Amino acid sequence: MTTHNANLPDIEQLTHLANQFFTALPCDGSLLNAGVSTLSPAVDTNKLTDLAKQAVNPSVETVELNKLSTVSRSGIPINTPEANFYFLDATQQQQAITHLGSAVKSASLALASQSPKDLSSLAGQHVESPIETEELHKLLVAHATVNRSGAPIHSETATAPTFYFLEMQKPHRDLSTLGLAGSHTAFDVHAVRRDFPILRERVNGQQLVWLDNAATTQKPQVVIDRISAFYQHENSNIHRAAHELAARSTDAYEQARKTVADFLHASSPDEIVFVRGSTEAINLVAQSWGRQNISKGDEIVITWLEHHANIVPWKQLCDQTGAVLRVAPVDDDGQVLLDEYSKLLNSRTKLVSFTQVSNALGTITPAQTMIELAHRVGAKVLLDGAQSVSHLHVDVQALQCDWLVFSGHKIFAPTGIGVLYGKAEILEATQPWQGGGNMIADVSFDKIIYQPAPARFEAGTGNIADAVGLGAALEYLQRIGVANVARYEHDLLAYAIESLRSINGLRLIGTATEKTSVLSFVLKGHSTQDVGEALNKAGIAVRSGHHCAQPILRRFGLESTVRPSLAFYNTHEEIDRLVSVVRQVQAGQIGLY
Ligand code: ALA
Repeated sequence: MTTHNANLPDIEQLTHLANQFFTALPCDGSLLNAGVSTLSPAVDTNKLTDLAKQAVNPSVETVELNKLSTVSRSGIPINTPEANFYFLDATQQQQAITHLGSAVKSASLALASQSPKDLSSLAGQHVESPIETEELHKLLVAHATVNRSGAPIHSETATAPTFYFLEMQKPHRDLSTLGLAGSHTAFDVHAVRRDFPILRERVNGQQLVWLDNAATTQKPQVVIDRISAFYQHENSNIHRAAHELAARSTDAYEQARKTVADFLHASSPDEIVFVRGSTEAINLVAQSWGRQNISKGDEIVITWLEHHANIVPWKQLCDQTGAVLRVAPVDDDGQVLLDEYSKLLNSRTKLVSFTQVSNALGTITPAQTMIELAHRVGAKVLLDGAQSVSHLHVDVQALQCDWLVFSGHKIFAPTGIGVLYGKAEILEATQPWQGGGNMIADVSFDKIIYQPAPARFEAGTGNIADAVGLGAALEYLQRIGVANVARYEHDLLAYAIESLRSINGLRLIGTATEKTSVLSFVLKGHSTQDVGEALNKAGIAVRSGHHCAQPILRRFGLESTVRPSLAFYNTHEEIDRLVSVVRQVQAGQIGLY
């Protein structure tokens, strides 16, 4: 290997050798089971190069090499904004050793017989030919490289891979608990946007502005790729003992459950039930715990802020059992009247179910206080996190809620997957809702014994791939840091509120002091449908309608609003475009369609 100066290799040669090296790795997808982490796309390419040089410098000890991980990308030059980087941490490397097993050994031997000199040069080690298998194991694992989806880089999806070396990062989890200063050097919205391919889409000749995040969020490439990798390398039903792919898919699914538990700070993954979404989770609680514990004369308390998914299942349960539905009112800003809420609570109250963030108004409810008040009368509490988990740090142990529900698709994960968190003792004491599949321990015609939670609530084949996608989405969000997201969105929301307020004839609906993401409004003289269509013509997506929350809109004398809703990939410039179009509609400069 030639070098520019004392022991430093030519980076192009390094790249070439790295490509050869990694393409010889076993193509069995084993690394998928090791999991992946991602780095901020805003990686300094010069630093990468320096680190790459260090990694091949003979003076670097093996132990140092093991602290470095190879970074790859698939088909995109590393110094372009699109680049995403992955690495394995020490634990994952250890897992990788286990998973690679004999496949690595044979591939290593084959590789060693071909180009030990190049390999030893690449690793910067004084490895003599024939290269030792053990040494190669170290090299393979130290340089274990996965693409953005977690697939081995030599998979067919990875075209023209390029490799660099990067210093191991601290777990990104830390970032979510820190403030902006001292965690992310900066929240770079433009870097974040590059992770979401759909944001490059053009609509009606204009750059898409996605402001319909309360309805569903867009998906980062890391999630799209993770699902694709699942189907390419892991797809199987989750019956661990049957065969290799079953083991991979079971591992991936259970790892996702662990990720969700970690994200919510649940005390155990066993408290996490995978469901289709918030709606199914609430129905599950209503039709299992509710049917088993609610009777005639009992009371269920909700609030006026609830969307239909947190009204209908309880009304149905009341109709089925003879229980009474009571509704806590809100003030003219859309804030729960705590005194009125307290008055509704009494010894008959068996359950309180309310949202942490209103989907129609954006109000953040005082969840902690409301939960405490409910517990004082002995009621259980279900917290609807559908609109909160992507904006606020949610800790179920701190909140002490008995259940929490959320939908994957509102938190950058696929549709059709969601979560029911339940306290272990409650889940264990609850009989299942649906029957079939692996939710049983034993079945005879006389008697059925159920699995413990969470399996007893997951009848039939679940949405395995999308659960894995949900895990990838939550890991992605954790790496950015929910605290960083919350801070950025807070500023963006304040800017948007101020800008919209400056438009004549525009009335904001939902003006709570504590609010997030949602900007519901009506525009005098213009239907919400017309405003939505005018915005769509300009490439701006908002929801116009009742937002599946008719009671709260009627509380404000309305049947519908225009509802822009923010996520952390939205920008101040996008708000300016929104405001500009609404202004033009208001001024009659844009024809109605
Ligand atoms: N609940 C979703 C929304 O608010 C559908 O749009």
